Amino acid sequence: MRSTGGERRLLIRDLAQLATPAGTAAPLRGRALGQVDVLEDAYVLCAGTSIEAVGRMRDLSRLEGEVDELDGRGLCAIPGLVDCHTHACFAGDRVEEFALRAGGASYEELHTAGGGIMSTVRATRAAGAEALAEAVRRHRGWMLRAGTTTFESKSGYGLDRETELASLRAVKGADGVPTWLGAHAVPPEFGDADAYLDFALAEVLPAAAEIAEAADVFLERGAFDRVQARRYLTACAEAGLALRVHGDQFTEQGAVPLAIELGARSVDHLEATGHEGVTALGNSNVAAVLLPASALFLARPMPPARALADAGAIVVLATDFNPGSAFCESLPLTCSLAATQLRLSPAEALAACTVNAAHVLGRADSCGRLAPGYAADVVLLDVPDWRYLAYHLGANLVAGVVLHGERAELG
Ligand code: NIG
Ligand code: FE
Repeated sequence: MRSTGGERRLLIRDLAQLATPAGTAAPLRGRALGQVDVLEDAYVLCAGTSIEAVGRMRDLSRLEGEVDELDGRGLCAIPGLVDCHTHACFAGDRVEEFALRAGGASYEELHTAGGGIMSTVRATRAAGAEALAEAVRRHRGWMLRAGTTTFESKSGYGLDRETELASLRAVKGADGVPTWLGAHAVPPEFGDADAYLDFALAEVLPAAAEIAEAADVFLERGAFDRVQARRYLTACAEAGLALRVHGDQFTEQGAVPLAIELGARSVDHLEATGHEGVTALGNSNVAAVLLPASALFLARPMPPARALADAGAIVVLATDFNPGSAFCESLPLTCSLAATQLRLSPAEALAACTVNAAHVLGRADSCGRLAPGYAADVVLLDVPDWRYLAYHLGANLVAGVVLHGERAELG
């Protein structure tokens, strides 16, 4: 095999297993969600930032020219994981609130009392652009160590023009996919949600739309209602942004029908979604992004994942990494929760945080699979069978990460 261009090549050789969602279709739903191709004694050949070939060692022809090698003996390769829902741009922490919650206070009570999201807004506004950029880089390092090679992050802890735009720039600067969560909470300087939206849509949206790829809204009791969410999302769509919705986290407020009506990429959370919502998502092209680490962290009911998968919905897994409701950056742990709490198979979990998550970010043709032409983003697990990804609860299985064709420094 001869290199087609002059790019650097990296051969990951002698892998115990290579596992990748089958085929090339995206998104995966129904039976296809659970189909994974597994090769034993395998290799991945990267050329520049893309995968040139994958296969069995015995079928590897002699490579000409200079090729770096990475010893994969005893390791399993899976695609770089894709976290399509995080809130990684924040300052400070919520450890005090965490301790209060451990003593019985509820997340919603703390939010209503001006704590919760608003306490992170205060810390984030005070931090300044450079500290925010540094925070996102640090959080990105944590994600990479857990095997996440592509991450989305929302803004939403600024809620003023300067901090929202600094947040989006910080995410983009750390190689993340920025989403403008301009409707996360109503900041105290505004009398009500409508007055805040007047400001956000007139003063922030035009500049946010230059940086972000999508917009998101927290449609919930105590945050934004359905009419306000429709107004915000419609304006964002007109500005060219893809749409996401935080919906049905605590109560059903019409997020699923609204997401379907507006052609959103996804509706995320769904812990409170009932039968009708499940059926509607099964018949729609709106992805169902499930965040079991958030449900676990808040001791809330898990989303109806099995019903969604059986209804044919586009099931996606993400961490929801944030300081309040899910201080967890690990997609491997999320896969364990999917298998133990959501009744998804390890194969379904893998597809849900690779191909399907890439689909939500509009990147399914370039990431989420180990196949020729896809990004050379590879996670090496120190396990004898790739399904340990879900099986070994809470373990750090990641032995190495190849990012854009190069071995990443995991720190
Ligand atoms: O997805 N629910 C809304 N937003 C985040 C939590 C944000 C926070 O608590 O800081 C979520 O859970
Ligand atoms: Fe979230």
